[in-house]
Amino acid sequence: MKATAIAPANIAFIKYWGKKDEELRLPTNGSISMNLSNLLTTTTVEFSSKYKSDEILINNKIDEKENKRVENFLDKVRQMAKSNLRAKVVSENNFPKSGGLASSASGFAALTVAATASIGLNLSKEELSILARIGSGSACRSIPHGFVEWFEGNDSQSSFAQSIHPVDYWNILDIIVIFQKGDKKITSTDGQKLVKTSLFFKERLNNIKNKIENIKELIKQKDFINFGELVEKEALELHAIMLISDPPILYLQPKSIEIIQAVWQWRSEGLSVYFTIDAGPNIHLICQEKDQKQLVDKLQKIKGIKYIVNSPTVGTRLTKKYLF
Ligand code: DP6
Repeated sequence: MKATAIAPANIAFIKYWGKKDEELRLPTNGSISMNLSNLLTTTTVEFSSKYKSDEILINNKIDEKENKRVENFLDKVRQMAKSNLRAKVVSENNFPKSGGLASSASGFAALTVAATASIGLNLSKEELSILARIGSGSACRSIPHGFVEWFEGNDSQSSFAQSIHPVDYWNILDIIVIFQKGDKKITSTDGQKLVKTSLFFKERLNNIKNKIENIKELIKQKDFINFGELVEKEALELHAIMLISDPPILYLQPKSIEIIQAVWQWRSEGLSVYFTIDAGPNIHLICQEKDQKQLVDKLQKIKGIKYIVNSPTVGTRLTKKYLF
């Protein structure tokens, strides 16, 4: 049976960077995120005896390394369903891939829901989140709705994501400023392997539980200013950790710094906007809906960028549209 799923990417306010189990993708700490309404992956999967081997087409391309990762994931699904069937997988993003746009999050979330439906596995939301996590850690947060917490857990069964607030809970936006498309040089999987070489990492882990409690409380209170300050500090901490990894990782580019400095300038002029950054150079601007127009007016004056406006959205869902 064919099945199609649509999954949103998500932006982490408190980040996942480091694993205590590489294979199971168990994170060294929990994380908090929001699903993004306009960064979507649509994936159709069909397990059938008519396929002699897995046929995988992602964004109309065949990429050996990426396809291997998808095949390994399909093996996991087959193992769970006790099946030998091969599959055809066609997947499309509505946004440029990589460059820290969490394409693996929406990609593996969509693949999880479409593949399990196609092979006839009936999993709970929790089980889907666990399986998505094994594909790509951040993908587990794209399964539930709205604002999401990924519990660190101490084994595979206890490390999954759950919704902490629904979609319409808080009308904040993530306006992604994009200036780099295409693949980044160091993937987030590879970058994370270096985290333990970073002197700041131990310090981060000492504070991380408090940070998670604080951000949850600020979201609960809808205290945008203190929330924004903490989100921004978290992003800078992540990039400081990357910078002093051995060898160092530098995802930021001159344009990233230009946008960061513009954000600080706009804030000093009274506009309430903050930034966060993933494992790439593009910058996510976090603002309240009431300030969208003012911020977009400013972005339109900057050369060489594009932007995508995202509100909080639902998690991964099945749809009747098929890509083949
Ligand atoms: C910086 O989920 O892409 O975006 O589990 O190895 O696939 P793997 O890593 P991935 O890492 C995401 C890192 C991040 C922070 C975050 O989304 O929490």
